[in-house]
Amino acid sequence: MATILTLAGDGIGPEIMTQAIDVLNAVNDKFALGLTLESGLIGGVAVDATGEPLPEETLQRARAADAVLLGAVGGPKWDGIERSKRPERGLLKIRSELGLFANLRVAKLYPQLVNASSIKPEIISGLDLLIVRELTGGIYFGEPRGIRTLENGEQQGYNTMVYSTSEINRIGKVAFELAQTRAQAAGTSAKVCSIDKANVLEVTELWKQTMIELQQAQYSDVALSHMYADNACMQLIKDPKQFDVMVTGNLFGDILSDEAAMLTGSIGMLPSASLDEAGKGMYEPCHGSAPDIAGQDIANPLATILSVAMMLRYTFKQEVAAQAIEQAVSEVLDDGLRTVDILDRSETGLIQVGCQQMGQAVLAKLV
Ligand code: NAI
Ligand code: MG
Repeated sequence: MATILTLAGDGIGPEIMTQAIDVLNAVNDKFALGLTLESGLIGGVAVDATGEPLPEETLQRARAADAVLLGAVGGPKWDGIERSKRPERGLLKIRSELGLFANLRVAKLYPQLVNASSIKPEIISGLDLLIVRELTGGIYFGEPRGIRTLENGEQQGYNTMVYSTSEINRIGKVAFELAQTRAQAAGTSAKVCSIDKANVLEVTELWKQTMIELQQAQYSDVALSHMYADNACMQLIKDPKQFDVMVTGNLFGDILSDEAAMLTGSIGMLPSASLDEAGKGMYEPCHGSAPDIAGQDIANPLATILSVAMMLRYTFKQEVAAQAIEQAVSEVLDDGLRTVDILDRSETGLIQVGCQQMGQAVLAKLV
């Protein structure tokens, strides 16, 4: 029997999580998945209850679980406390403690929302790309790091970008295999674009070379291309549909995945997965705790509900159940239901709904 640990967190976390759990319970019954749900504390609610943003008990239960579903953490309430006790620290710690080195962020445009984006419809209609970002290495974790005082009294900040071939190979494998699966499902040929700055950074020269060798040795059916990170930023805006799977390191992935998210209009629609080597993972919406709208029942729960679909797909290999959720979301959008973040006021026939109404509408499609 498989266990899922749900960590609602702060701000809109509890509201969106309630809806996602309802959907998860419904598919669990419908498809007889045999999943058991537990809940725990992380972030500001954990700080309030225990003084720690990631209590030891939560970490142990997360290790024991097969997957973690997370809402969001943080908010101005905890701004004043020392850095190591901030809610966001709980999130960084759980990612690194669980060894979640592969971050998958989908930028998929639902055709119903083509006008919610600031990009021209013809550029983005049909967009469905996946960014595979290395999450536990690179310049965010490299040593040495710090701020030092030079002999002339001037201060100097420094960080170190490091990647070893084993780190590059394991994220490369994830990207190539996802490209194969996606191509199979879509009836297209598999392609991966690896993003680097091999022209100026030796570490990414090794990245590029390692990707080439991996592709030649094991994934000759996947077309591999390379692009410099700065050009990739431009190409994402100019012609995002040229990409299917993009693979990159921690720093470039952080920036590119936020940029790609915005192509689709609202952060309220975007799920993510962070996986370890065994495929165990943590699933969460791309957005934060949205303190500005918390407690008002207006948050969009779809990013969290779609994160449940990713969890069923990647950790539990339940593609049919995953697609059932995605289909239900699509049907609810077809019905014209919109939370305020995806409401296009110039369009007629749309129905503005709250968080709970949106979640329950998805649920109704599944039971
Ligand atoms: P945010 O993503 O929480 O909010 C940005 C904007 O998007 C806000 O206007 C918010 O109302 C809106 N928004 C976000 N999610 C929405 C949803 N589901 N439906 C409708 N509108 C939505 O980012 P922000 O404001 O920078 O950060 C707020 C807090 O969240 C901070 O404490 C930050 O550290 C934390 N945070 C937590 C993350 C996580 O838990 N994974 C990720 C990003 C930020
Ligand atoms: Mg970021």
